[in-house]
Amino acid sequence: MKTIILIGANGKMGQAALTGLGKHKIITAGRSADSYDFQVDITSEASLRKLYEDVGHFDAVVNTVGVCEYANFTKMTEEQWMSTILSKMMGQINIVRIGQEYIADKGSFTLITGILNTKPIPFAIADATTSGAIDTFVKCVAFEMPRGIRVNSINPTVLEEAWDVYGEMMPGFEPVPGKLVGKAFERSVDGFITGQVIFVDA
Ligand SMILES: NC(=O)c1ccc[n+]([C@@H]2O[C@H](COP(=O)([O-])OP(=O)(O)OC[C@H]3O[C@@H](n4cnc5c(N)ncnc54)[C@H](OP(=O)(O)O)[C@@H]3O)[C@@H](O)[C@H]2O)c1
Repeated sequence: MKTIILIGANGKMGQAALTGLGKHKIITAGRSADSYDFQVDITSEASLRKLYEDVGHFDAVVNTVGVCEYANFTKMTEEQWMSTILSKMMGQINIVRIGQEYIADKGSFTLITGILNTKPIPFAIADATTSGAIDTFVKCVAFEMPRGIRVNSINPTVLEEAWDVYGEMMPGFEPVPGKLVGKAFERSVDGFITGQVIFVDA
């Protein structure tokens, strides 16, 4: 049994990840203080450092947080770009950058991206761009990780559980059950792969 910090556990992707992590001890973390074992803001370096120090020993971090702004490219402001970059891109890079100082030997980081960097749709340029950045990050940073630490990303299509929110934006896409995406998180945490983008598509 591993001790896993699951960031964003109450979100739709967090709930999907949980279905694949049942045999482990899960420590939940997220933005709202009363909903999680530990509060964390992934856009704050100090908050991430405090999370890792407060938790102590852990074998894996699974992150399912990456807040994105949606707008047409011609209308998207720098502020909207920066808030997406600070969360989905730098937030996740900092989870690994700071977390590698604290995680157990042979530990793993699993990050979240999403299908829109390979199958673009309108309004999603910031999500697609930062997902592509994180997919590239995991492929390349894996070569630099110390102490046998692994890093992968999960790149799923839309969840059945989120189809009511995103379905209208995504004509021609087929949603997948959270349980299937949970298997991808399980492969990342319990397998030996590293530097991999694990795609889950219908
Ligand atoms: N839903 C899908 O079908 C789908 C498919 C592919 C990829 N994705 C990607 O998965 C990620 C999560 O999507 P979701 O649908 O699960 O979103 P969601 O249901 O809105 O959940 C978002 C979670 O993020 C937490 N959060 C937000 N900002 C935070 C911060 N700064 N620090 C820490 N926690 C923070 C929220 O915490 P609180 O509970 O405290 O508010 C919540 O638990 C996104 O990057 C999305 O692009 C989603």
